Amino acid sequence: MKYIVVSGGVVSGLGKGITISSIGRLLLSSGLTVTSIKIDPYLNVDAGTMSPFEHGEVFTLHDGGEADLDLGNYERFLGVRLGKDNNITTGKVYRKVIARERRGDYLGKTVQVVPHITNEIQEWIERVAHEPVQEEGESKVADVCLIELGGTVGDIESMVFLEALRQFQFRVGDENFMLMFVSLVPVLGSVGEQKTKPTQHGVKELRSLGLSPKVIFCRCSTPVEPSTCAKISSFCHVPADHCISVHDVDNIYHVPLLLMEQNLHNMIATALKIDLPINPPNIADWRKFAVSIDQFTVTCKIALIGKYSTFQDSYLSVIKALKHASVAVERDLDLMWVEASDLIVPDENDPTQPPLEEGETWEHRKAKHKEAWDMLKSADGVIVPGGFGVRGVEGKIAAAEYCRKEKKPYLGVCLGFQVMVMEYARNVLGMSGANSTEFDENCENPVVVFMPEIDKDNLGGTMRLGARDTLITPHANGELSTSFHLYGKKEVVSERHRHRYEVNPEKIDEISKAGLSFVGKDETSTRMEIAELPRSVHPFYVGCQYHPEFQSRPLKASPPFHGLLMAAAGQLNEFLEK
Ligand SMILES: *[C@@H]1O[C@H](CO)[C@@H](O)[C@H](O)[C@H]1NC(C)=O
Ligand SMILES: *[C@@H]1O[C@H](CO)[C@@H](O)[C@H](O)[C@H]1NC(C)=O
Repeated sequence: MKYIVVSGGVVSGLGKGITISSIGRLLLSSGLTVTSIKIDPYLNVDAGTMSPFEHGEVFTLHDGGEADLDLGNYERFLGVRLGKDNNITTGKVYRKVIARERRGDYLGKTVQVVPHITNEIQEWIERVAHEPVQEEGESKVADVCLIELGGTVGDIESMVFLEALRQFQFRVGDENFMLMFVSLVPVLGSVGEQKTKPTQHGVKELRSLGLSPKVIFCRCSTPVEPSTCAKISSFCHVPADHCISVHDVDNIYHVPLLLMEQNLHNMIATALKIDLPINPPNIADWRKFAVSIDQFTVTCKIALIGKYSTFQDSYLSVIKALKHASVAVERDLDLMWVEASDLIVPDENDPTQPPLEEGETWEHRKAKHKEAWDMLKSADGVIVPGGFGVRGVEGKIAAAEYCRKEKKPYLGVCLGFQVMVMEYARNVLGMSGANSTEFDENCENPVVVFMPEIDKDNLGGTMRLGARDTLITPHANGELSTSFHLYGKKEVVSERHRHRYEVNPEKIDEISKAGLSFVGKDETSTRMEIAELPRSVHPFYVGCQYHPEFQSRPLKASPPFHGLLMAAAGQLNEFLEK
């Protein structure tokens, strides 16, 4: 196993994650299998309690681990499947060591940060690096493990990890360990001088801890000048061509190309004594994706119904999945944000409507209402993604109703799927007050109910989290199922879940008889996974309980998203006939 460790200095949020994902993509294009580990020097142990208010999206992993956007980026760029142990935190390591101490594993000796914590970190890295990762086909142990050390060098929190990594380079040997550093090169003054001081400081700090980076990535708004590289080279003890310019590019997908142009793959091959199976790297498809994404002339308007004003970050993977799908249909994605609660008719006399915010008037609210509906009506397709909280649900139901009646392509994910079922029950079956017990425990017609999974270890119901199989029927109500086609006519697919509520099994018969087909179910047939209207009734009206966005990849759009975009771009018929 070859290890590439990347740390960063001075400021966080430099795009370290994207740089590392891009290194991985380049190696992948050179024929290697790559895995990655993110070290977060926090005390948090379990992301299960991660607040969406603070973290934006909770990226759900195959094994049910809940991570943040960095692991999502790694999965998308590296085309691999990672697990919860690919995220190491200070808290997780300490918990493990303390549990050992409690069990008496240390035979009553004094337990210390060095060596006990530092050893545990090294063992953890080695163990996780050897977990097989390949996403498709045979799973395989990676050739290279990329390790991102979160935080910045010099933080108190990262110290113990830096010490562990210092030891680790000897444990695995020089030719198996390569340190890289991501730094900021600010451009200052009217002449636009590129400043190297922050880089010098960061590298000096690292070197004082016994760690010498072999490659330095310079994050800069403009291409890094040869003279800047020369300076960094002389102060930081790296050859000038190992100072790599990561300047601003049109989109993040250009970064692997930028690294390749600067010969990073060969530097890695030489330092780690690897023969690259494919050299020069075969990155043509990726390049096509990166370049074309900004060049389509025909647009496709998609309305995303959610809660944005505050939580745009929560829809990160959904937006990526829409992007991937829009490239697949060769359209420029025009994403319109529609605030769900704006879809409700403003009514001063309705006490259930949210009170006016400071400075807001009913006139404002009416204008926003009109604007939201104008966007929805002008959209080529609509998506209602997963969400939390009762606010906005009635607006999402209104959107689902509109799309159903007006035959507008609609994709519902998680709550967006439940909303679709609630709408159908209310307006087609006439079930008055059809609702979810998440929002109204005593509603007259609970069509969505609490259905946790039974956890054998913890005795009790927990959230349904991680990958589960869905069985898809090829035919429903005498017609071919759209979802079956979209998934390449596979009868079993695995997608990731994160929910506690589900369609009420007692209502399924009634609803499907009325025309909304549940074409995807779990293997017990009690949990509804995919619903759709037949194509003779509606061009594309599909919902899924799981979150397909987590497995969408740049060159492999997620089937439901691909379906939505094809329907919105008028390409679905052709696809289904093929
Ligand atoms: C790793 O887990 C911690 C603690 O749960 C969390 O705060 C952090 O965001 C996670 N990092 C990644 C990359 O998922
Ligand atoms: C469903 O429940 C929510 C939360 O109580 C409520 O706001 C909404 O009006 C209910 N809808 C119907 C149709 O009963």
